[in-house]
Formats: sequence, C-alpha cells, structure tokens
Amino acid sequence: MEIFHISAECYPVAKVGGLADVVGALPKYQNKAGHKLRVVMPCYETKFRKENDFECVHWGTLQLGNFNFPFSVLKETSDKLGFELYLMEIPELFDRKEVYGYEDDVERFMAFQIATLDWIIGREAMPDVINCHDHHTGLIPFMMQHCYKYHQLLNTPSMLTIHNGLYQGQFSFDKINYFPEFDRTHVKLLEWNHQINSLAVGVKCASAVTTVSPSYLNEINNSANGLESLFNIVRYKSRGILNGIDTEVWDPLKDKMLEKNYSIQNFEKGKQQNKETLCTLFNLDPSKPLFSFIGRLWDEKGGDLLPQASALALSENFKEINILILGSGSAQIENQLNSLLVDYKGNYNTFIGYNEELAHLIYAGADFLLMPSRVEPCGLNQMYSLRYGTIPIVRRTGGLKDTVIDFGDNGNGICHDQSSVGDICYSIQRAVSLYEDKKHLNEIRKKGMSTDHSWEKASQEYIEMYNLILNKI
Ligand code: GLC
Repeated sequence: MEIFHISAECYPVAKVGGLADVVGALPKYQNKAGHKLRVVMPCYETKFRKENDFECVHWGTLQLGNFNFPFSVLKETSDKLGFELYLMEIPELFDRKEVYGYEDDVERFMAFQIATLDWIIGREAMPDVINCHDHHTGLIPFMMQHCYKYHQLLNTPSMLTIHNGLYQGQFSFDKINYFPEFDRTHVKLLEWNHQINSLAVGVKCASAVTTVSPSYLNEINNSANGLESLFNIVRYKSRGILNGIDTEVWDPLKDKMLEKNYSIQNFEKGKQQNKETLCTLFNLDPSKPLFSFIGRLWDEKGGDLLPQASALALSENFKEINILILGSGSAQIENQLNSLLVDYKGNYNTFIGYNEELAHLIYAGADFLLMPSRVEPCGLNQMYSLRYGTIPIVRRTGGLKDTVIDFGDNGNGICHDQSSVGDICYSIQRAVSLYEDKKHLNEIRKKGMSTDHSWEKASQEYIEMYNLILNKI
C-alpha cells in the first residue's frame, strides 16, 4: 500500500511536541511491514534542512486567493529516516525558524495543504491512503472531495489522526476564497460555530478519524473545546489507537545521550550513575529520590500546578527529595518555577527550554516522572519513562489512563484523579514511601521496563483502519 502522512511536524526534522515523535516513528514501522511510506511536511529553516541533502522533485506555483506562491518539493536523498521524506518549500511562508506562532499561520498551512495536493495529483499514480495529522492538515480531506482540481483524489480514502483536539485552526469566512474552486453546495462542511474550523472540517470529511488513545476518544465525546457533538456524530468512523514509541531511539541499552547504558538486568546501577551525573549538573543530592517533569509548561499539562506543588512537597518532606523541571511555555509559570530556586537550592532546579539530550538523561536518571496533565490525548513521556525504569506519576486521563496503572492495583506507576496540588503532593508522599522499600520499588521499575509499547502492534492497527476505508476487509 502507498501511504502518505501529511503533518506539520516530524522528528528529527522539526519537533514541537509528541506529534513529531509519532510522525517520525509510525511510518518507519509501516515501511518495515512492507508498505511504501511518504511523509510530507513544510520546509522550515531547521538544522535538519541545513545538514542533509535533498533533491528537487517538483516545482510549481500555488494559488491562495489572489496570491501566488512559488514552491518546490524536496526529497531527502539518503532515506535514512526509514521512509521517504518530502519537504514542501514555500520560501515566503516557511523560511522561518519556528513551526507555529506566526500571524499568518492560516495562510501558511493553507498554502502547505494546497501545494501538497497540487504536487500529489501531478504524480503518476494516486496514493492508496492519505493520513492527515491534526488541524494543520484538516482541510485536505475536504479539498480531495470537493475542489474540482483535485478530482483525481475523489476515490482516495483519507484518515485524520487527532493528537490534540484543543487546537482546531479556526478562521473567518473572509478567507474562503483561499480554497481552490469547489462545489459551493458543500460549503456547510467548512463551518463550525460560524467559522471555518479546520479540525471540524477534517473530522467531517475524512473517511476515518483516529485519536491517539482509546480513552481520549471517549473523553472527547464530553469535552472537546466545542466539538463534542460532532465527535458523537462521527463515532461510527472513529477509533482510538494507542501510540507506540520508537524503541530504537528510546533504548536505555543503546541510547548515546546517556552517561551509562543499562538494561533490565543491571538497571539499578545504570540508573544511579545517570542520576549522579544529573545531580552534579543541577546541584542536587543523589541519595534522595529525584522527581522530574519534562514537557510544555501549559495549564493543559498541569504546568500551572508545578510551582506550588513543588514548594509544598519540598517543605512537607523537609527537603528530603529533589525536584528537577525541564520545559518551557507560559512565561508566568516559568517565572514562578524559577522563583523557588533560592529557597530550595540544593534540592530543586529548573532548565527552561527544550533539550532533547537532557530529556534522555532525565528519563534515565530520575526516579519518578510527574505528569499531572489536565488533558493528555496519549502522552509519550510516561512510556519513555517506563522503558527507562522511571516510575510515572500521572493524573488518570486520556492515554495516561490507558498506559499507567497504580502500583496499589498491581500496576506500573502512581495515579491520582484530580489535577490539583493536593493530589500531586499525596502521590509524591506515596512515592517517597515506595522509594524507601527498594525491593518493591525495583519490582515496579522492572514491570515498567518490560512493558512492550513498541510501534509494531499499533502501526498494524493503522493498517487495519486503512484497509477498512479501502473496503479491503
Ligand atoms: C500531542 C498530545 C500528546 C500525544 C502527542 C502524540 O502532543 O498532547 O498527548 O502523545 O500529541 O500523539
């Protein structure tokens, strides 16, 4: 089967969050299973673009309302990612360092989607399936069906995978002329709450919809930033498929970013050495349990609870614990977190920013990973930490609920129900007691390390879904 994944992010080309990790791994596993995989994304000004070789396989001019933009399609020549990578180069719109956050994001991603389809219809054969990811590519299923110029794609099924339903890419009907000419009797498909809503468009028009965990699919029927009723209507074509992780990139035995590699046979020693390096770097005490947070500092991830929860947990435990935070996001949360640095020196530290290497070292060296998310469509960090023998402390929501079971129920982690400072601190207390019982602690770590979260199974579920929409089953 020839499968196109169309996405705004893909690791290691450009990453903001977990979307990149999924689009960098899932196609690789589908390729290994014998399919032909292509990943298409915008060409940002990234390190990857500068350091790798590309050949231009197509060029043209795309039309966005009254504007014309020249574009070219660049194929990465080495195929080292395990799939074919195509970058849509639209210099005026994407020759920038960041992935998102510009005033003209609507124009940027609309142009990306148009250029992608312009190129695809010029190829010899049409793909078997087009898998779009999140709202940045949500207009594609509509355009494939209703824009006259893309009629060749009318019989190609499309699937929309939702990594985060909070972001929907809404914009006003003033921009409707950006769409290539289409049958206006279908204009209602573009509308949700008096606006054009890219995610809703994709949900309505795609042949199938997937979310990145089964629990998240259930949750969005009740809470989806205004799209609840739509998700109920399309339930018949929806499925929750739990993400996997790339077990080649995330392997404590081979990970080059660690101080010391280790496996389930010698994890105690291995983890301790990584912890000592981390503690030296951040002026912490390696004899005390180390709690970490890695991720975006937004309310959605429970980031706003971290400053107070950290301060309370450190005082309640008479500074007998360490806390290390790696992340960036809201300036207010960043400042609040940094304001604790003086009072809790020696037990608490922060790294404000994004640092892939440090993240790997933390997964290996920390004892517990905090994930107090309010919303977590899947969450990958808990799976990385399980694989590295670090016990996740999670709020039961979305994919966290599907992957972490409380150790009180014979599980692999620590769970709480509320996104609250009280619940986080209570879980930290339980973790501190567990840390003192080394035998029990190591049993739980082992359980985590031996859980299989590889993409092999999940990527097969995607193929089943494609077959379903291709009517092959
Ligand atoms: C988004 C979600 C996260 C999920 C990731 C990959 O970042 O917030 O929960 O794991 O996408 O699907």
